[in-house]
Amino acid sequence: MWSLLIFVIIGLFVSQNSVDATHNCTILTKGSPYFPKNFKFGVATSAYQIEGGWNADGKGPSIWDDYTHHYPERITDGTNGDSAAESYRLFDLDLKALKDLGVHHYRFSIAWTRIFPTGYINSKNQKGIDYYNDVIDKLLANGIEPMVTMYHWDMPVGIQKFGGFSNTLIIEQFLDYAEELFKLFGDRVKTWITINEPNEICKGGYGTARSPPLLNASGVGDYMCFTNLLKVHGATYRLYRSKFFEKQRGQVGISLNVDYVFSQTNNTNDVNRALDYEFGLLAHPIYSKFGDFPPILLKEIGKSSRNEGRKRSRLPSLGTYWTSVIKGSADFMGMNYYTSMFINSSTEPRGENPSYERDYNYVSTVDTRCPKAKSFWLYAVPQGFEDLLKYIRDHYDNVEVKITENGWSDSGDLDDNMRIKYYKTHLQAVLNAINDGCNVTAYTAWSLLDNFQFHAGFIEHFGLYAVNMTSPNRERTPKKSAHFYNKVIKTRSIPYDF
Ligand code: BGC
Repeated sequence: MWSLLIFVIIGLFVSQNSVDATHNCTILTKGSPYFPKNFKFGVATSAYQIEGGWNADGKGPSIWDDYTHHYPERITDGTNGDSAAESYRLFDLDLKALKDLGVHHYRFSIAWTRIFPTGYINSKNQKGIDYYNDVIDKLLANGIEPMVTMYHWDMPVGIQKFGGFSNTLIIEQFLDYAEELFKLFGDRVKTWITINEPNEICKGGYGTARSPPLLNASGVGDYMCFTNLLKVHGATYRLYRSKFFEKQRGQVGISLNVDYVFSQTNNTNDVNRALDYEFGLLAHPIYSKFGDFPPILLKEIGKSSRNEGRKRSRLPSLGTYWTSVIKGSADFMGMNYYTSMFINSSTEPRGENPSYERDYNYVSTVDTRCPKAKSFWLYAVPQGFEDLLKYIRDHYDNVEVKITENGWSDSGDLDDNMRIKYYKTHLQAVLNAINDGCNVTAYTAWSLLDNFQFHAGFIEHFGLYAVNMTSPNRERTPKKSAHFYNKVIKTRSIPYDF
C-alpha cells in the first residue's frame, strides 16, 4: 500500500517535472556577464499611447481616436489617448528622462494623421512635421539615436474608409506616406521600423473585433490583412533601397511579436508547427531562404479551404512577384517579446469554421506557475525569450535581431521590484542567447513612460517613469527600475545586487 502511494507521489512529481523540464520560470546565467561593446540599449513608446493632442494643431483622426470615442465602455477604465502623457506638448520632459537614463536610442512612432490629417499626402500639416523634426533634432543633439516606427496601429480614418489592410490600395497609400517620411526625416533617422506587431493588427482588428477596425472575419480577414501588410512592408523596403539608401544609408526592418511556445507533451513538431502559425506566417516570407508563407500553412489552409468548397485558399501563396519583393526585405528583425505559452494539440476541431483558431488547432494556456503581471496575459517566462532568440538563429539564418520591446506591467508603484526582477531575468535571457551565437544587437525596454495601454487604458503601468496624470504638467518621476536600467547601460551588465 505504502509503496503504491510512494509510486503515485513520484509519478506526480515526475509528470509535473516533465513540464518543469522545459523551463522553470527563472533562467540560468551562462557565459560572459557583459553585453558586447557595440550593443545598444534604448526605450520605446508609441504616438497614440503618449502624445495626447489628439486634434491639436490640425491633427486628423485615427481609428484609435474614433474607437475610444465611440466605445469608451470597451476600454477598461473608460479612458482614451486624447491627452495621455501629453508628449506632444511636453516632449522636453521625455528628453530629460531619456538623458537621465543614458539610453543609446529612443524608439517612438509617428502619428500618420499628425502630419497627413486625412492620411493622404496632399493634406500636409506643417505643425506636425515641425513636432517630429524637433523631437529628432533634440534627440540627436543629445547623442540619442532616433528609432522610428512608421505605423503603430493608428490608421488614418480617411484611409481606413477604403478598407485599410483589407484592401490592396493600402500598398500605394502607405508607400506615399513612407516616401514622405524618408524625404522629411531620412537625413537624420537611420533606423526605420515599418510596422509594429502585425499579429496584433491583423488578428485583433481583422480576424476578431478586439480592436479597430473590428472586421471580425477570422480565417479570412486576418490572412488578407497579413498578405497586404507584408506587401506594404516589402514595397516600403524596396522603395528605400532604390531611392533613398544611397544617400541616407539607414536600416529598415519590421517589429514582430510572438509568444514563444512550450509543448505540454514535449512534442517538438508541435512547437515548430505552432511557431510557423504564430510567427512564421510573417517571418518566413521576409527572412527565410525561400520566402512566401510557411509551406505547412499553405498546405493545411489550402486543404481546409477546398474542404469548405472554396475555389481559392483563404491563404493563397504570395506568388512569384511578391515573394521576391518580400523575401529579404529587412535589414534586421525587430522583436517584441513579453511572454510564453503552453500548447497542447486539440483532439476536437476548435473555434468557428473557418477561423484562425481552427486552422491553428492548439489549446494554449498561460503558465500560472510563473509570476503574473498586472496585464492578464503577461507571465514572466524568461527561458522562452532565450529559446525564441535561438529559434530565430536556427531558422532564419541568424539574422540581426533588435529587441524593440520587452517589459512588465504593474499597478504603478515607484518601488517596482518585480519590474526589476523581470528585466534582470529577461536581459539575462538575451545575454545567454548572445553568448550562444545569436546576432542580437539592441535591446529596447517597453516603456519609457506609463502610458495609454489601448484596451487596458491607464490601469496597466509599463513605464520606467511614472506620469502624474492628474496634473496638467504631467510630471515624470523615475521609478526604481529607471535607476536599475541606467546602471545596466553604464556597466553593460546586469546589476544583480540592485
Ligand atoms: C505593443 C505596445 C503595448 C505593449 C504592452 C505591445 O504589444 O506594441 O503598444 O503597450 O504591447 O501591452
